[in-house]
Amino acid sequence: MGTHRPGRQAEERSLISDRSQSSRGPGSGKTGAGPRRDASALDERYVRSFGRRRSRKLTDRQKSLLDHDLGAMAIDLNAPPPAPLTALFPRPLDAVWLEIGFGGGEHLLWQAESNPNVGFIACEPFIDGVVKVIDGAQRRGLDNIRIYADDARQVLDWLPGGAIARAFVLFPDPWPKARHHKRRLVEPDFVASLSRVMTPGSELRLATDIDDYARQMLLAVRSNENFGWLARSPADWRERPADWPATRYEAKAIREGRKRYFLRFRHSG
Ligand SMILES: C[S@@+](CC[C@H](N)C(=O)[O-])C[C@H]1O[C@@H](n2cnc3c(N)ncnc32)[C@H](O)[C@@H]1O
Repeated sequence: MGTHRPGRQAEERSLISDRSQSSRGPGSGKTGAGPRRDASALDERYVRSFGRRRSRKLTDRQKSLLDHDLGAMAIDLNAPPPAPLTALFPRPLDAVWLEIGFGGGEHLLWQAESNPNVGFIACEPFIDGVVKVIDGAQRRGLDNIRIYADDARQVLDWLPGGAIARAFVLFPDPWPKARHHKRRLVEPDFVASLSRVMTPGSELRLATDIDDYARQMLLAVRSNENFGWLARSPADWRERPADWPATRYEAKAIREGRKRYFLRFRHSG
């Protein structure tokens, strides 16, 4: 991956060779290529990487947010992406960032509020999380979030090349059982799709609390020559940077005593 320093290579080796937990191989993930617009065709192209789409019955307010307010925030993949991509948003913005699998939206809302000149494309098939983000954006008065309430890989196929200045994939579903490893989202084809849509010089942020998924992530990113790992010391992947707020899933990992990995990569183009 990109430019290497001896210290960084040693760190990467030690992380990858950490066999303190059961070792699991990477899944194959994507089974096809090309743009897709229709969620019903999803399983024909991609192995499903997410679990449930809904947890509890929606309240009337939540239903109304979905029925009446999602439309204005949603991305329509049947229309070509606008040029520039910032035209997805109602005012001029400096850049577009992408969050894949935002869950309850804690990180997304924080980033969108902290970076008002950035537009966010946010992908999440879990409807309860989508409703939380619509609600959170309204309460904070944010106009810089666009939502795709389905598989992010469809958005990656739709996006023009070199359009995303930062991407986040935080604590993707761990799929710990060996027979489910093929469902893990971060694998070489997924990284190649990210590489295509990201701007040279942009940053990719990945997180996991699963040791062998951290290794899988590093290997998947390493398979792409456009990314270089930014870690210079163990603290760089053990400690979350100040501009990276904790998510609900991370809080659970802390409660349950699991190690967390915060992996940052630079796209060198
Ligand atoms: C373990 S949760 C973590 C959520 C959040 N990032 C956090 O840290 O709290 C993983 C999330 O990724 C979503 N996800 C899984 N596969 C996805 C895909 N292909 N496209 C978009 N989101 C996906 C799941 O629905 C789930 O909400």
